[in-house]
Amino acid sequence: MVLGFDIQRSRVNAINQGKSYIADVASEQLKAVVSHNLLQATTKQDRLRETDAICICVPTPLTKTKDPDLSYVIHESKEISKRLQPGQLVVLESTTYPGTTREVVLPILESSKLRGDTDFYLAYSPERVDPGNRKYNIKNTPKIVGGINSQSTELAQALYSQIAKTVIPASSPDVAEMTKIFENVFRSVNIALVNELAQLCEKLGVSVWEVIDAASTKPFGYMPFYPGPGIGGHCIPLDPYYLANKAREFDFHTRFIELAAEINEAMPYHVTSQILEALNDRGKSLNGAKILVLGVAYKKDVEDIRESPSLKLIQLLRAKGADVSYNDPYIPKIKLSKGNLASVKLTGKNFSSADCVIIATDHSCYNMDKVVARAKMVFDTRGATRGLKGNNIVRLGE
Ligand SMILES: NC(=O)c1ccc[n+]([C@@H]2O[C@H](COP(=O)([O-])OP(=O)(O)OC[C@H]3O[C@@H](n4cnc5c(N)ncnc54)[C@H](O)[C@@H]3O)[C@@H](O)[C@H]2O)c1
Repeated sequence: MVLGFDIQRSRVNAINQGKSYIADVASEQLKAVVSHNLLQATTKQDRLRETDAICICVPTPLTKTKDPDLSYVIHESKEISKRLQPGQLVVLESTTYPGTTREVVLPILESSKLRGDTDFYLAYSPERVDPGNRKYNIKNTPKIVGGINSQSTELAQALYSQIAKTVIPASSPDVAEMTKIFENVFRSVNIALVNELAQLCEKLGVSVWEVIDAASTKPFGYMPFYPGPGIGGHCIPLDPYYLANKAREFDFHTRFIELAAEINEAMPYHVTSQILEALNDRGKSLNGAKILVLGVAYKKDVEDIRESPSLKLIQLLRAKGADVSYNDPYIPKIKLSKGNLASVKLTGKNFSSADCVIIATDHSCYNMDKVVARAKMVFDTRGATRGLKGNNIVRLGE
């Protein structure tokens, strides 16, 4: 039996009623396990005592100044240490910098007077979830585990072998922690590279989309990454900072990470200035222009808005005096620093009254032919109109 513990009563109630609040998990699936008593949720910390293994998956955000905020990990580790039982396995899953499990979690758990080398087991195992991915799920995505000693690694391996087809042992928690961050840094750096290339392509009059498609025909040594209005989600914009921050302890500057962040974070500004120019070419000013943004989720077909570049883009456009509305079938409302917005319907009037329609997130439900046919001007940040022709289309990276 799996016991889910959360401090949010609404989430606990939803799980116990078989109502999923995660898009990738169907309520039917959840109901099936809840009704067979294979899963229960609780807000009672004390019930952690009943378990053989505890997986910590609390948030690891950044502070306002982009420093790691380990407060959730520290708080929950303290709560666990008050209830830790001999023989229990604790696994940290939250994304964090190398050293967290050994340097932060272990000493807190040992304040219980139980010892990590003899009385309990401790490991790190990163989450590798790609929301919206229909091919790879928790079963067929290999899981990495790294324990503070070989017994901890073996036990964590045994635990995750129940749910993942392949479990790969790492020689330490630090290796497992570094692996997760490296995977996200890899994405961040490659996206930055292609974002920079897109800006050069605009100057050269070459289509970055065509270049990527052509390069993708190479069967070895290349994998495609795509430009866009910036990066979003709870991982790629945040995790590299965990490593960059840790590196500073050693007077080491992770230049690739910082450069990638600089380029990616500048993309909403670049898109804003491209839109300003495109409107100017049509005798319009951004100040006073009506803009309809399609898609505010951080990537296609998900209902997650965390760190979404669309939010930044909307704020920048509004700061220049544009009158911005948005549509997103997955996000009914958004909170902005100055007021909230609600998703508008995709009516003919909303299209025809907009001076510019921005494709910010290319949800599969958008019919790009119709968008191009109905809009006065389309600014496509995702290459979603590739293959379509029209004087009213302006694409990032062309
Ligand atoms: N969601 C993903 O796809 C994904 C993928 C890879 C890594 N991660 C990592 O997993 C961690 C969690 O991310 P998430 O997306 O699930 O976050 P989330 O905010 O959706 O969920 C975190 C949950 O932790 C709960 N919580 C907060 N403090 C708690 C406490 N003291 N005790 C118990 N529960 C507590 C919150 O109420 C919330 O329900 C982060 O480190 C993230 O980087 C997530």
